[in-house]
This record gives sequence, C-alpha cells and structure tokens, in this order.
Amino acid sequence: MEYDNPLFWEFRYFIQKNTFDWYFNFETLYQFTSEFWNKDFEVLHVGCGTSSLTEDMIKFGIKKVVNIDISKVLIKNLKETYKNDSRLEFFAMDVKKMIFKDETFDLIIDKGTLDSLICGKLGEENVFEMMSEIYRVLKSKKYFILVTHQPAENLNENLNEDLNEDLNEDLNEDLNEDLNKNLNEDLNEDLNENLNEDLNKDLNEDLNEDLNEDLNENQKIPIIYILIKN
Ligand SMILES: C[S@@+](CC[C@H](N)C(=O)[O-])C[C@H]1O[C@@H](n2cnc3c(N)ncnc32)[C@H](O)[C@@H]1O
Repeated sequence: MEYDNPLFWEFRYFIQKNTFDWYFNFETLYQFTSEFWNKDFEVLHVGCGTSSLTEDMIKFGIKKVVNIDISKVLIKNLKETYKNDSRLEFFAMDVKKMIFKDETFDLIIDKGTLDSLICGKLGEENVFEMMSEIYRVLKSKKYFILVTHQPAENLNENLNEDLNEDLNEDLNEDLNEDLNKNLNEDLNEDLNENLNEDLNKDLNEDLNEDLNEDLNENQKIPIIYILIKN
C-alpha cells in the first residue's frame, strides 16, 4: 500500500467524500486527553482527511481549527462544505513543509498521517521532516497529540533530534515545489476526462478493498502520545 504517495490520497478522495475516521473519533480521543484541551486554543489538525474530528473539535467549542492535508481535491471539497464556518480553515499543504510561522499553534493533532508517511523507502526521512515542522510551528510548552501504531522505539530518534539548520533552510524554500511536482495542477480535469466508466468501477472496487483493509487496520489498537514542547 502506497500510503506515503500523495497521488494515492488524491485518487482516494476523488471518490471517497463521506466521513471516515481512522482508529477512533473525537469522543474517544478526548476521553484519554481531556486535560490537554482548552477552548481558547488555536489547533492545527494535520492530515485531516475526512475525519469527523474537524467538525467535532468545533462542536466541542474550539475557536479556531486549521486543517491541512496533502490532497487538493479533498481540501477543495472541505472548503466548500464548511464555507460558512469561519472557525474552520483548510489548506492543501505538505505537513513536511508548512507555510505557518514558528510557534503558531497551541495544540497540534495527528491521527494517521505519520503512519502514512512512515511507509515506503523515505519513511524515516519523512517522519523526521514532519516532526521538525510540527516542533517548529508549535508554541513553547504546548502540546502535540500523536495517534499512531508506531511503538516509541521507532519514534525516539525523531523526537529527540534537535532542529537541523540545513533542513530548515530547505523547508523555507519554495513551499509548493514538491506538491506541484507530484500533483499535476490539472489532475482533476485529467481524471474527469480520462476515467471512463470501467475505470471508475475498478477504482470503486479498489477503494472498497482499501476501505476493508483500513477497517482491519482500525481493529488494531493505536497509541496516543502527548508530546510537550520545551
Ligand atoms: C491515514 S489517513 C488519516 C486521516 C484522518 N486524520 C483520520 O484520522 O481519519 C492519512 C491522511 O494524511 C494525509 N497525508 C498524507 N501525506 C501527507 C502529507 N505529506 N502532508 C499532509 N497530509 C498528508 C492523507 O491525505 C490522509 O488524509
């Protein structure tokens, strides 16, 4: 499964529009992390997908939730769905190269994005870049809630690594370069033109298989890490 490939998600969200939560929903998350939530927080939700967390954090009372995801088609749909709710913001953005200023957010939540990025050949590098960016945009003494299947030993190096200057320089370069390389701007148009009915059927079948696999993944128990920035 190519969970680390942005195109995988682009295809998926081209078809899947309904709400789907990896691992569990906000109610369960809150049950285990209630002491770290504050309604005045500015929250960053990375790799939001079609998770119900987006809406449930607002229902809970959070005043501002910024949601990012690598999938442009997903973000376009979410922007349309929530266009009348000024408490929610959406950006098509790589969590490894975020445009936000240093120390912007009081709480950052990831449920499943790190697990996607750790797949594939560049897994370790991806996780390092993601963690460095999360560290950068998180306010001092504030919280990163990470929901993942990864045991601590897979994460320790990334968690303990000091921010690397070279990496930061790279990250500040053209932010959308990677995205543009991987995601052809006209992807939606091409998809519409090129996907005949059979292909759509195949994609639907594939998606159903993927969803079944995802449901199996969801049966495994994930770990909730609370990381506090120094
Ligand atoms: C396993 S899904 C989890 C979705 C959602 N957080 C949930 O709990 O249901 C992983 C999500 O990460 C997004 N994603 C993958 N790579 C990303 C990246 N480099 N930057 C931002 N989002 C990414 C995918 O598009 C997908 O929505």
